[in-house]
Amino acid sequence: MRSRFVGATTDSNAPAQTGHDVVQIAKAKPDQNEPALASMLGRPDTNAGPGMAHPSPTQQFQEEGAMAEVVSDHRRMPIIGLDCPPDHQQQGAMAEVVTLRNGHSVPVIGIGVSWLEPQSIRDLILSALNIGYRHFDCAANYHIEAEVGEALAEAFLTGLVKREEVFITTKLWNSDHGHVLDACKDSLKKLNLQYLDLYLVHFPVATRHTGIGTSASAFGDDGVLDIDTTISLETTWHAMEELVNLGLVRSIGISNYDIFLTRDCLAYSKIKPSVIQIEIHPYFQRESLIDFCQKHGICVTAHTPLSGGTANTQRFGTMSCLDDPVIKSLAEKYNKTASQLILKWGIQRNTVVIPKTSKIERLHENFKVFDFTIHDEDMKKMKDIDRKYRTNQPAKFWGIDLYA
Ligand SMILES: NC(=O)c1ccc[n+]([C@@H]2O[C@H](COP(=O)([O-])OP(=O)(O)OC[C@H]3O[C@@H](n4cnc5c(N)ncnc54)[C@H](OP(=O)(O)O)[C@@H]3O)[C@@H](O)[C@H]2O)c1
Repeated sequence: MRSRFVGATTDSNAPAQTGHDVVQIAKAKPDQNEPALASMLGRPDTNAGPGMAHPSPTQQFQEEGAMAEVVSDHRRMPIIGLDCPPDHQQQGAMAEVVTLRNGHSVPVIGIGVSWLEPQSIRDLILSALNIGYRHFDCAANYHIEAEVGEALAEAFLTGLVKREEVFITTKLWNSDHGHVLDACKDSLKKLNLQYLDLYLVHFPVATRHTGIGTSASAFGDDGVLDIDTTISLETTWHAMEELVNLGLVRSIGISNYDIFLTRDCLAYSKIKPSVIQIEIHPYFQRESLIDFCQKHGICVTAHTPLSGGTANTQRFGTMSCLDDPVIKSLAEKYNKTASQLILKWGIQRNTVVIPKTSKIERLHENFKVFDFTIHDEDMKKMKDIDRKYRTNQPAKFWGIDLYA
């Protein structure tokens, strides 16, 4: 993966990060194109839960002949650089990367692989790589790590991409909080990888252990999720830090944490979380949580960035912002689809987006977000449609509302 420039706000794989780092955002391309359930118990991300200011230019610099505008923002956000896979350059598109606090970079768009048929994984991953995707979001709980691993192995073997050119995330399931090392090794084995780019604590809750790699959600006699109250999140986090020390994982992060839990993690961590993954979309904008995390050097990834599309409507009975009239009308204005507009909105808020699709044509569609910019006034219109509305609703399946 070639990056024109990168930079880290601080090295936080080292102890004691103050959070007072200078944050810069760089855009390599000037703005352009103006005118333009039941089974849930065993497959939890479906249970998955939760979860602008415009900076002013301060300096400019050139690198590799490309003009890059560097802007600083008082809220201290991560630096964004550029990456252009060769075949992608031919298409005239560009994929940006965010540089994490530890210097590693993550492409701003990836694909989520939850709820995919195992037999469809190979074609989707290889197609995604050909399109230009370099970022894949997995989890032990999606039960497709082995299929992803096979597809990646084929991609490496055939020279489609090198290992170091892709960013692979997977997640520690709730039932493995007391078994972090073994769970990570199990994921690595299934994914056929020597190291993970990012390992996330999937939910800030430990549940009864059901065996490494089973990633089940066990229930008590009362029919409620069997929550383990003996393991603290701090204990889990220190085990995550050990994975970095062992070289098994490059970056570690959290998922579905709120501000309280994130703050606590910042206080007890020796290695600060590089990433937080939370539900974010135009109906669930979460500005305070995003601001807090970015202020403290945590890159924010939006899971469920399309509000779950029709899938969450079917699973949870929730509304999709893909059908929102404001979204539809703005999409028309920019000659884009609703999905492209929403994903671009997420990227312009300096969040990383990981839409899931089972359809190759939508892989193409969702990647075509680097050739337009949403104007400030339209970002404002999108801001106004926030409903503070979560579409992943575990309470419906776990017998307890973890966000109560
Ligand atoms: N950390 C967590 O707890 C957590 C929780 C939830 C999700 N995630 C991650 O986030 C990823 C995405 O989340 P998600 O799948 O729940 O929600 P999503 O990406 O917001 O929405 C997926 C839905 O949108 C549809 N879709 C995709 N592209 C579309 C397009 N261009 N036009 C219209 N519909 C489109 C998909 O249908 P088709 O498949 O038919 O295209 C599917 O129904 C997951 O795969 C997972 O990696 C993490």
